[in-house]
Amino acid sequence: MSKYLVCGAGGFIGGHLVKRLMDQGNDVVCADIKPTEYWFQYFEENQNYSLDLKEYENCLKVTEGTDFIYNMACNMGGMGFIENNKAECMLSVLINTNLLRACIQNKVSKYFFSSSACVYNGQKQKEIFVPGLKEADAYPAEPEDGYGWEKLFSERMCRHFTEDFGLETRVVRYHNVYGPIGTYDGGREKAPAALCRKIINAKMNNIDTIDVWGDGKQTRSFMYIDDCLDGTEKVFNSSKKEVYNVGSSEQVSINQMIDMIEEIAKVKLKRNFQLDKPKGVRGRSSDNTKIENEINWSPKINLKDGLEKTYKWIFDQIKSGSNTSKYTRSY
Ligand code: GDD
Repeated sequence: MSKYLVCGAGGFIGGHLVKRLMDQGNDVVCADIKPTEYWFQYFEENQNYSLDLKEYENCLKVTEGTDFIYNMACNMGGMGFIENNKAECMLSVLINTNLLRACIQNKVSKYFFSSSACVYNGQKQKEIFVPGLKEADAYPAEPEDGYGWEKLFSERMCRHFTEDFGLETRVVRYHNVYGPIGTYDGGREKAPAALCRKIINAKMNNIDTIDVWGDGKQTRSFMYIDDCLDGTEKVFNSSKKEVYNVGSSEQVSINQMIDMIEEIAKVKLKRNFQLDKPKGVRGRSSDNTKIENEINWSPKINLKDGLEKTYKWIFDQIKSGSNTSKYTRSY
């Protein structure tokens, strides 16, 4: 039986990944900076560590005896968080750096780094409904300030650890992952969850208007968590060492996504466009040609279906009076 370490196991993608690895019968070690009571998904039977992976000693401790590592750990969130916490986002470079060093020391077989669509050159994302971003579009480098620079730098560090020390690494660039058991309030939430929450609140409280950041014409593609895990697993298990997009090519404007959520909620609301709020790039989507051809993966869940599942989960959370902000504060 292989031993997997999931770093960032208390977060949204990390939590779902731990569950999947356990369902497959693997031995899983989990690490996260948050106290375990704040993990989105927590499984007692695993070996669970709450510690700061920015510290090398902690990286040495959790990697000892593990074969495969998924590094999902970083300080992140939606536009509202990454535009206002650039230094915090860049400090995640210490996690990747010290994990890579520990992998060499502890002779780990394979290491996965979760990169982001935020590495892509901003010049290619200046219009709405732009062509999907190809992997090569990350260079010449002009990534998202703070968060995107850290991701791009860490991608390269993985590459050089492979070249110089022979460590097997795999890197993917996620495009706005969403789904149940994730952040929908507290300041780190991304657009799909934030807009579900706002529409649910409006409906429950008979309010006729929701706040929308920007003019609603900006575009994105959103990837459902199950697709994210499938793509991740396929790249991890492949012999190919390239960097791949793991995202959806279903590009929609924020207004189109709101239309879908309103249809799910069976409500029609007015939109108060807040032009002074964080907006990020004007247009972004994933070109999946490379991963389709080389890894034979493409997402299966369309946005409407994924939003339905996400909406239902957030609705149940709000109805039961819970909120996730305690899971998502900074440590
Ligand atoms: N978060 C949020 N909340 N965004 C909103 C809202 C709202 O209530 N209303 C409209 N938006 C708009 C934002 O202004 C932005 O233009 C767009 O929806 C998408 O916002 P986010 O989902 O927050 O982020 P993003 O797609 O720009 O970037 C996210 O995905 C990247 C990967 O593709 C971030 O999470 C990055 O950290 C991540 O790397």
